[in-house]
Amino acid sequence: MIDVVQNQLFEDIPFVENSVYEQIIQDIGLNKFSIIDSFFSPEMVCQLRQSLLNKYEEDRFKKAAIGNRVNEVIVKAIRGDQILWIDEALPNVTEHLFFDQINDLVSYLNTTCFMGILHKEFHYALYHKGTFYKRHIDTFQNDDRRKLSFVCYLNTEDWKPENGGELLLYLNENGIETEKIIYPFPGRIVIFESQIIEHEVKLVETERLSITGWLKTR
Ligand code: OGA
Ligand code: MN
Repeated sequence: MIDVVQNQLFEDIPFVENSVYEQIIQDIGLNKFSIIDSFFSPEMVCQLRQSLLNKYEEDRFKKAAIGNRVNEVIVKAIRGDQILWIDEALPNVTEHLFFDQINDLVSYLNTTCFMGILHKEFHYALYHKGTFYKRHIDTFQNDDRRKLSFVCYLNTEDWKPENGGELLLYLNENGIETEKIIYPFPGRIVIFESQIIEHEVKLVETERLSITGWLKTR
């Protein structure tokens, strides 16, 4: 059901409450992360997956880095994914739809929670069998621009837990560390606070596809 309520800030613009976005806001407020299944439709996931694979076949992906002056051997021991940044200024049809949905979410967050998100960056990621991404945090030292991390999984419909590549969030419940295991099922998105939540991608057994991005204030 869609509720139309009067937005108190902009009185003449009707504000349409979105239950999925409200869920995200509530989850992040309570737990600092949110998991939404079927954020993207199966058709959309299929098109995004195809777009990723086409670009991969065109040899456009690069080994992911972890900052300056870290040599390749060390990088490989930390993360093994290959990535390709998505240019919002030059999107293909599918990427255009993707950004429409992201921008809709961003304006909702900005209007309802004053998140102040002004920038964003997204990349495709492909993890081959045998790769992983060790425990880390998504913000760099002296750089607090990344507010929310966003991951969307583009694996095929038959994805099983045995395929590995779980996302593990390290949470803190009253001073005790707990782990939240998240399987990368297609269409699922995970959003979490970039500056707070440490996480890792466990060993991948079957090629694992995703889009990862960050919503930023500056
Ligand atoms: C990252 C990351 C998580 C995932 O790219 O920084 O942590 O589940 N990705 O792919
Ligand atoms: Mn990360």
